[in-house]
Parts: sequence; C-alpha cells; structure tokens
Amino acid sequence: MKKTTLALAAALLPLLSQAQDARIEAKVAALMKQMTVAEKVGQLHQLSGRQFTGPASSDYADKLADIRNGKVGSMLNVKGVADTREIQALALKSRLHIPLLFSLDVIHGYQTVFPVPLGESASWDMDAIALSARIAAREAAASGIHWTFAPMVDIARDPRWGRVMEGAGEDTFLGSAIARARVEGFQGKQLGATDSVMATAKHFAAYGAATAGRDYNAVDMSNQQLFEVYLPPFKAALDAGAATFMNSFNTLNGIPATGNAFLQRDILKGSWNFKGFVVSDWGSVREMVPHGYASDLADAAVKAINAGSDMDMEGYAYSQHLEDAVKSGKVKMKTLDDAVHRILVKKFELGLFDDPYRYSDAAREKAVLSDPSHRAAALDVAQKSIVLLKNERKTLPLSREPRRIAVIGPLADSQRDLEGGWVVQGERAKVVSILDGIRSHAGKAEVSYAQACASGCAGSEGFADAVATAAKADIVVLAVGETWDLSGEAKSRTDITLPGQQEKLFSALKATGKPVVVVMLAGRPLVFNTIADQADAIVYAWFPGTEGGNAVANVLFGDYNPSGKLPITFPRSVGQIPLSYAQYNTGRPVTDEKNVVYKSAYIDSVNTPRYAFGHGLSYTDFKYSGLALSSAAMSPDQKVTLSFDLANTGKAEGTEIVQLYLRDMVSSVVRPLKELKGFQKIHLKPGEQRRVSFTIDRNLLSFYNSQLAWGAEAGDFKLMVGSASDDIRLEGELKLQSK
Ligand code: GLC
Repeated sequence: MKKTTLALAAALLPLLSQAQDARIEAKVAALMKQMTVAEKVGQLHQLSGRQFTGPASSDYADKLADIRNGKVGSMLNVKGVADTREIQALALKSRLHIPLLFSLDVIHGYQTVFPVPLGESASWDMDAIALSARIAAREAAASGIHWTFAPMVDIARDPRWGRVMEGAGEDTFLGSAIARARVEGFQGKQLGATDSVMATAKHFAAYGAATAGRDYNAVDMSNQQLFEVYLPPFKAALDAGAATFMNSFNTLNGIPATGNAFLQRDILKGSWNFKGFVVSDWGSVREMVPHGYASDLADAAVKAINAGSDMDMEGYAYSQHLEDAVKSGKVKMKTLDDAVHRILVKKFELGLFDDPYRYSDAAREKAVLSDPSHRAAALDVAQKSIVLLKNERKTLPLSREPRRIAVIGPLADSQRDLEGGWVVQGERAKVVSILDGIRSHAGKAEVSYAQACASGCAGSEGFADAVATAAKADIVVLAVGETWDLSGEAKSRTDITLPGQQEKLFSALKATGKPVVVVMLAGRPLVFNTIADQADAIVYAWFPGTEGGNAVANVLFGDYNPSGKLPITFPRSVGQIPLSYAQYNTGRPVTDEKNVVYKSAYIDSVNTPRYAFGHGLSYTDFKYSGLALSSAAMSPDQKVTLSFDLANTGKAEGTEIVQLYLRDMVSSVVRPLKELKGFQKIHLKPGEQRRVSFTIDRNLLSFYNSQLAWGAEAGDFKLMVGSASDDIRLEGELKLQSK
C-alpha cells in the first residue's frame, strides 16, 4: 500500500506544481494587464529602508510616499515583524495593492550567528552547512524577511580580497557542493513555506577574481577559466533552485556585470534557462557611469535592463529613467514586462498576494527566535569548522587536571569579534567568548587571563603583565588574529599578516619557555610565519559565531576532535598570491627545491604554501591502504570504482575528510597538477577500518577545451587520494579509451 501511495505522490507532484505554475501565470498576466508603465517600473525599484519605520522622519517622507504610490517593488534592510508589517501596510495602500518583497543580508545567521561562510566551508560538511542556512532561514522568515542575499558563491584565490570571508574558498568542486547545500538550506523543501526564504546566488560573476585582490576592481580572464572555475558554483545554485541571482560590481573583460548580456542573457537566462530574477548589487546600475560604460543614469538604466538586470537596488536609475526609455523605444515593452513578470511570479509563489503579512507573525517570531536548538546547532557547526593547523608533541588536547592555563590576547575576551562581519541581527550579549568557553570547560584546571593589548594590538603596554601571567602558568592559550571588521566588503589588505604587535606578543610569551597554543580568528588566510614556525599548536577558528567560545574550548579540551580542512590555500607571503593548489606544471617545474635555477620558481621563496588546501589535523591518526580500481581502463560510457581502506590507528574517535584528486596527464588544454573531484567525511572509532569508494565517470574527467566544449579526452589520468592536497596517501592510474 505504502509503495503505491509514494509512487502516486511522485507522479502527482510534478502535475500539481505545473497546475500551480499555471494558476500563478494566469494571475500575473491578469495583474500586469492592469498595470501602468509607471507601476511596472515600480516593481523593479529596490530601496534600502534602515530607520524607515517609526515616527515618519522628513528624511524619508518622499520615499515613504513612493512606497505608498506603488513606485517601490522591494525593500532591503527592513527587519522584524513590527517594521515589516508597518511598511507592508503602506505599500498595500497603492492602487493595485501589490505587496513588497523584504530582503536582507542573512549571510551566516540572523539572530543565532553561525561561523562566517569561509569558516563553515572548512567543515566540508554539507549537512552542517545546510542546517546553518535552514536555521538562518527559519529565524529570518519568522522576522518578516522573504529573501536573503546569500549564498555568495564567488570562487576566490586571493586572500587580499576581504570578501573571501563570505564564500567557500578556492575550489570549484567544493564550492559547487556548498552552493547547492546553502540554497537548499535557505529555500527548504518548498519556496513559500514560512520557514524558508528565497536564496540569491551572488555575485554574478567572477567578482572573486578582482585584479590584485582590490575590491570592486576589474576582472579579466579567459572564457575557458570563467566556465571552468568561476561559473560552476552559480550553475549548482541554479540547479538547486535558487530563486534569484545578484550581479556584481566588477567588469568582466571590459563590460560591467550589470550591463553584461553575455553573462545575464546568453548564459544565465539563455543556455541555463533561469526563470527567476536578477537583482543588481547596491547601486551597480548607477556605477556603470563611473565605469565609463554608460554616459549617464538614463543610459545606465537602458543598458542594465537590456542586459538582463531585472531589479535596480538603490540605483534610482530605473525609477527615474525607465518609463522614458520605454516611451522612446530604447527599452522594449516586452523587456520591461519580462522583468516585471519574473518578480511578480516570485511574489505569488511566496503567497504574498494571499496574505502579505504571512511572514510577519509576532508569536512565531518570538517562538522561533528563542528556540534553544538553534544555539546547539551553532555550536555543532562551529566546532566542525575549526581547523587544527599544528599540534607538536601532542600539546593538544589540554588536560583538565589541576594545572594553570593562562588565556592571553586581545581577542580572548571579545564577543563582537567572534561574530565576524555581515551580522544583521545577532545577540551580542549572548556570544560566548574564548575566555568564557575555556573557563566553563576547564574542569579542575585554574584559568588566568591577561588581555596584553587592546583590540588591534597597536601598543605593547600590557605585554609585561601578560608575560608575568604566562610565567606563572603551565601552558598558554593565545587568542590573536583579525578583528571582525578587517575582512568582508571593502576590506582588501595589501598586508595580510597579524595586525599590530600580535606576533611580537607571541614571541614574548614563547620566550617564557611555556608551551603556547595559538587560537586564531580571521575571515581569510593570514600570514603568520613566526607563529607557524614556533607555536606548539595552532587552531584556526575563523569567526565562529555565537557559540564560538564553547566550540573552541570543546576542541582545545578534546571534547570535539577537530576535523576541519582548509577550503583555501594559506600563502607564506602575500608575494605568492594568487596561489591555489590547482597549479599548472609549466614547462620548467621545480623538482628539487634546492635547485630552482631557470625553473618556474622565486629566488626568495619556495613555491609551496604555508598550509595547503585541504590541510587539517586530528587528535587521532588515519591510515590509507589498499587502493584498487575496478578497471585500469574505461570507455567514455563506463564507470570505474576507486576504493581503499581507511583505518583509525590512533587512540581517539575522529572524522577524516578523505579527498579524491585527479590529473589529466596530456590534454588539448593543459590541466592542473591536481583537481578535487570528490570528498567524503568518515567517522571512525579507534581501531575501526572502513572500505571507502568513489565512482569515476566521464563527467569527472571532463573539462572545457579551448572551444568551450565540455568533454573528456582519451588518455592517461592519475588518481590521488589523500588527507590534503599536499598529503596524498595513495595513487592509481586510469586510462580513458577513445570509445
Ligand atoms: C553590498 C554587497 C552585496 C549585498 C548588498 C546589499 O554592497 O555587495 O553582497 O548583498 O550590497 O547589502
């Protein structure tokens, strides 16, 4: 009986969805028939509404009037049930009573703050990442928000760029998996449920390749690189059902993304057949004038909408010039109608015409925002995100036996810094600091504390006190790194070492002879060679969020055995950037670091990174053995299974993220020395062993050739399995036959 019911449901679901689509199409068509050009243009205008609510101030009287008169389609930065109800009520006074869309940058949590996305990506845990987005959606949707401007899926290989914090790091395969998980987390099973929000795949496209890592700078690359490295996470987000896209501030090969028909019309709405809508980034329509691509705001409006930018965020280009552009014929009515149609469909799908206040329920907001399971999830995700970079002589985990632990550093007792950037709500007073976390987990150990220097550590006035505190302790835990405001948008840095005197502080503490465990907070890879060389242990905690201090303490005391792996390469110096594991062999590869004369190398540095993509240690040890391929050769339509044994040969339970890399040895476009093509998180008890397998198919061996054709070329492939991109444990060879 059950099977029949399930089969019937599976058969019926698409039909029900088609029926719903048809109903919505009919309603949208009927509504659009009534709309004036001005009302249509209104739907494409998005306003930021900080402080719009409350006593109507004169500053916003004109904008409030625009909302009242149906000249605004969406608001960002209005949040909370009370404020969204107030503004929605104003919009519903317009002639056709079209409800507003409320959007917000819910990037890594709403009230419960999760690790910053780059940190979450270090978990390589799609369930954890999806859960984080799910909870963020639940809390935001309970607070009147319909739409989040996330996930940011920009591949980034330059840690000078501050926005590397918001993404999933350097790798296309990992970044695509994370894009999928985050969209599914935000949108849930059914768009329109009041615990889901529309997702936004941003920033379309290639924003992470800003020249010299300088934010908003030009992007120039081959279409082969664009298609191979930067577009796939967007396609993964689209395939996962992303309701919207956001374009980007940068030019791509000389054309601003906002006015780039190749990106938005040919690829996104053309070959990818995207049915949602594209919102510009903040003012990016208007910015086509300073880019030198539009002669004035009117020209910018025409170029943007004709290139596929449906909604103008805070650009005032559409609101001021689109009506005239349609009247003059510079913008066809069908172009305007297509943009309006895309936006209205989403408003119907969210159920806003049935009940414009359905996301703004005060009782639900109160209940959801006080759900204790959210902080438990934030702790789980945070500890999975932490990466153990170094652990000499098994310094960690810390013992709870009576001993003295000195917690030192400018970030040890901070709450704000643990949240990181892009926090639109949060509950700062409830953030658990690293010091609080250690104190509550220390058992019989005695915990002392010294700040040593103020935030940013510009001065060393407190060093003597810190050294004295360290001298009286058995072990030092030093909390250093970036403050929350040093990464994120418009936070590019030419020097990515630890700010201020922090490495000098480390050296002063190290000179006491006590073991020093460094806990580092950051939104990007940092350069810290003295600490890397001399610390006894290093734990990279990113910006771990509301439960950050508990997550760090759980790792330090071994209650959680660290499992995180780096989603981005850590350079030895900024001079090595851009640097990723997916290097090319070149015609003069370095085979011996002692002999690099006339090789592709530097005369003042080795080529290898400080810490490689995929690096992350554990408190236990894993052994890889017995690699086997189901066949040494495969035809394009066959599949081959690669398998091997993974054993936990240590004394602690642990999780290993096994990574599958491959290299196409000879091809019509040279291929990187290794590319990530699979990963699995395997949890094993001490002594436990498991057979792990990956399926290799033609798609995994494929790439874009110089004609942008996707496909695999016959020839030899090296298959590699390891614990990191620079820690390959097993290798195999596979021949792809021509047929
Ligand atoms: C910002 C960011 C974008 C964000 C938007 C709204 O400038 O580039 O990621 O979603 O504006 O805040």
